[in-house]
This record gives sequence, structure tokens and C-alpha cells, in this order.
Amino acid sequence: MTDKPSYLGLLNAIAVAESAAEDYFGAWAAVTPSPEVRQVLQTVALREGEHGKAFAKRICELGYETRPKDDPGAADRLAIAASTSISDREKFEKLGIGQQVQGDAPDVFDPMFGDKNIDIQTGALLGRYIAEERDSGRLLRSCYEQCAAADAGGNGQRGESNGDLAGRVAHIEDLLQQVLARLG
Ligand SMILES: [Fe+2]
Repeated sequence: MTDKPSYLGLLNAIAVAESAAEDYFGAWAAVTPSPEVRQVLQTVALREGEHGKAFAKRICELGYETRPKDDPGAADRLAIAASTSISDREKFEKLGIGQQVQGDAPDVFDPMFGDKNIDIQTGALLGRYIAEERDSGRLLRSCYEQCAAADAGGNGQRGESNGDLAGRVAHIEDLLQQVLARLG
């Protein structure tokens, strides 16, 4: 067997994280009341699952096995994703998904090609993975913005009805003043 590839740890981390992400995106897709949100979540869940398998396959082809890693937050994330009492917008916010990244925040994918020893087949897989992750990020950001806008629209409607109520109260006050003026 050849020397252990220097990028095996990276491949393992991706395989484990992507498989875990498939679980919670899938659980969320199963309970969302919105067909549009479900479409996005199912697309992302399938990509995550395929990434998990593709990287586990590559690790196997290189002569090694995927090693599970302890993830203390996994149960909490799954519980949030599978909840039927938390709204989609709140799930995005609680899970830290779909949020705009600060301009100067470090990009998690940029350093992945820093290892100059990556073989051609692994490099091709990694490139496709990064492009799909970036596309999933765009899909999720757009989906979150639509959920947030829908929630804000709901508040706006409540604002309008408050406005209607204020108008009716003002009208009643006018009528009352007219009655009082006649009585006076
Ligand atoms: Fe991912």
C-alpha cells in the first residue's frame, strides 16, 4: 500500500458531515408545510447524501475506511429540523442555514485545494462537491429570504388590520363627539 494520502482527513470530514446533513435536511423536508421549501430541502438532502457516499467511496478506493466522528450538536440539529412547531424561517435561523455570510468571513471551501498532493480523481470530486455546495448555499439563502419575506408580509397584514381598527375607532370617536355635541 502506498503512503497514506495527506488529504484523507479532509475526505473523512466531508463524508461524515455530508451524511449527517442529509439526515436533518431530509427530516426537515418531511415536515415542512411548504411545497416550495420541500423542493429545495429535498434537492439539498439528496446532494448531501450523494456527497457523503461519493467521499466514502473515494476513501474506500484509496484503501481506507470512513471513520465516524463525535458530533455533540447532531441530536439538537435533528430535533430542530424534524420539529412540527418551529416555522421554516425559525429553523433556518436556529440552524444557521441560508443566512448571508459577512463579506470578510473566511470561506470554508477556499482552503480545500491548498493541499497540492490531491490526485486527479479526488480533485475532480472535490471540485464538483464545492460547486454543488455553493449552489446549495444560493438555493438555501433564496429560500430563507422568501420565508422571511412571507413572515414579514404576515406581520404587514396584521399592521393593516391594526390600521383599519384605528380608522374605525377614530370614526366611532367622531360619531360620539357628534352625539355629545347634540346632547350638549
Ligand atoms: Fe454539505
